[in-house]
Amino acid sequence: MVKLIGEEKINCAVFISGRGSNLKSIFKYSKQKYSKINLKLVISNKSNAKGIKFANKKKIKTIIIDFKNKKSAERKIINILEENYIKFICLAGFMKILSKNLIGKFKNKIINIHPSLLPKYKGLNTHSRAIKNNDKYSGCTVHYVTENLDSGKVIMQKKVKILKSDSAKSLAKRILKVENKLYPKAINLILSKI
Ligand code: GRF
Repeated sequence: MVKLIGEEKINCAVFISGRGSNLKSIFKYSKQKYSKINLKLVISNKSNAKGIKFANKKKIKTIIIDFKNKKSAERKIINILEENYIKFICLAGFMKILSKNLIGKFKNKIINIHPSLLPKYKGLNTHSRAIKNNDKYSGCTVHYVTENLDSGKVIMQKKVKILKSDSAKSLAKRILKVENKLYPKAINLILSKI
């Protein structure tokens, strides 16, 4: 569990690979008076990620990490996180799987958002799998990151009804709106408990 002293905000890094809508909602949350985080850093494995443009606009420090060599990429990431006194990490559409080593250094301090009702549909293509299985509901989950993909303890989850007319795209769009609300709530929940 992360320790917060008094009203101090915890330095947070967000890892992204693309669009960055969850990054935006975490940023918005970080600007609220009641927020528990100071969004200090955005890390991306893609230099052209849309979320990087947003972070630059908002003057948040951004770092692009080339993952061709995962070991050296993670070594760099660990150094950067330490240099910036980062104590809490939110994965938000980050498409790389972090190693046991990095996760071990930030035990219970890395969380992720996943577009399904975990433990259902770990991994990719969650929406089309839910539709194909005729599920009545899908949704999204904020969970702790462990070395097993999409398997850490659930923090918060929100159901979304699957409509008969839904395509993977339309369902993804509706779930994303819910994700953007759920992620800040989950961050605030776990960081308020201390
Ligand atoms: C979201 O659907 C998230 O659940 C998944 O990747 C997507 C990222 O979207 N892990 P965005 O980049 O935050 O808009």
